[in-house]
Amino acid sequence: MKKELFILSVVVAFSLLTYYLVEPFAHSVMHPHVEIDGFKYSGASDIAEVDHKISKIRTDIEAEKAKEKPEDKVLKMLDADMQAAEARREAKKVFWTDVERIAALKGDAVHGESVYANCTSCHMDGAAPMGGVIPPSLRTSGAIYERHYLIGLIKDPAMASNVDHKFSIVNNHQMDSVKYMVSTDQDIVDVIAYMEKIAPSMDEITPKVAFEDACGRCHDVRYMNWTITGTKPTFKDKRDEMAFDIKHLDAQEGIKGYMGKLPPDLSMYIRSRGEHYIKAFVEDPQQLLLGTSMPRVGVNAQTADKVIAYLEEAGDPKAQERNTIGMYVMIYMIFFVIAAYLWKRQVWRDLH
Ligand code: HEC
Ligand code: HEC
Repeated sequence: MKKELFILSVVVAFSLLTYYLVEPFAHSVMHPHVEIDGFKYSGASDIAEVDHKISKIRTDIEAEKAKEKPEDKVLKMLDADMQAAEARREAKKVFWTDVERIAALKGDAVHGESVYANCTSCHMDGAAPMGGVIPPSLRTSGAIYERHYLIGLIKDPAMASNVDHKFSIVNNHQMDSVKYMVSTDQDIVDVIAYMEKIAPSMDEITPKVAFEDACGRCHDVRYMNWTITGTKPTFKDKRDEMAFDIKHLDAQEGIKGYMGKLPPDLSMYIRSRGEHYIKAFVEDPQQLLLGTSMPRVGVNAQTADKVIAYLEEAGDPKAQERNTIGMYVMIYMIFFVIAAYLWKRQVWRDLH
């Protein structure tokens, strides 16, 4: 008996050890905790990312110099990397300081309407893909994006989305030309004021619309019948369905070429990654997955919540059905218990 108790206590001790020490440790390594900054965009994390890179290059330079025979070629290369990183840091600092300054200006929606015509030359219903991506509808932009981000996006899309490293003078961001069309600070806040005016209120924007407008041009959600070419209808004729599928495959090829990687179907991501990860990833993709091809999206906190609600529904499409059936089962059980009780009383009555 003593022996069994000893074995039991060892097993319990190891289970507790695993549960309280090993599991949280493994979790923190595999899913490092990332703070969510409230979906405010100040560029702080973008600059921190470059700072991190600069300190890494500095360590590499010191390591090379500490060698017995430092190689000139390597040192020159590291020096060039350092200069590029420092220039990038400076550019980001100037950019985000500018955004902050412009954010303090007051916009004029009436004048903004004429500036907005520049946007609709690309952003229109039924727009064709540009370099592989369809410019999204701007029907809700004034409500779903955060103001600082929108200002940054119009000033310099690649910089605002923190994907400036992917583009060069030859290879521009698809929306890059906007900075020549809407170039004064006042025009920027005016067009945003107009977009805020035409957007529905946050309460009117459903999770579905929030997802479609913010994420839907890149991500499929098969379980919701959402494709990057729109909602897939039910077809009567197989040929129509095939035509739709071919259009969808072409769009996938386009977005893959544009992003360098096919954005994954998000049907089950809420199950595998969880809400916190997805929110942190949307706010700041580079911070979680350095070098990721997904640009920052720039939505505000309320929109992020709606997108999560949509993904929750996608990840558990039977939730509604389960709840309804569950209720019928409960009602049935209650009747059954009452009936069983009455029957028992009937049977035992004569014996008591
Ligand atoms: C030259 C064509 C072009 C013009 C002009 C243009 N856009 Fe865009 N816009 C695009 C394309 C293409 C995308 C998709 C880019 C991507 O997903 O990488 C885009 C994306 C966006 C997004 C989504 C950004 C995000 O992070 O999800 C918003 C908002 C937006 N544009 C607003 C505007 C506004 C406001 C204007 C006018 C001031 C404008 N655009 C002018 C082509 C254009
Ligand atoms: C302009 C295109 C684009 C938009 C818009 C976009 N994504 Fe992505 N997303 C990508 C690409 C590309 C990847 C693949 C990234 C990789 O693996 O490096 C990705 C990956 C992801 C992942 C997987 C991350 C992982 O850990 O593997 C999640 C989750 C995600 N996106 C969520 C969203 C949500 C939510 C939105 C809308 C708020 C959104 N995305 C908008 C292009 C986009």
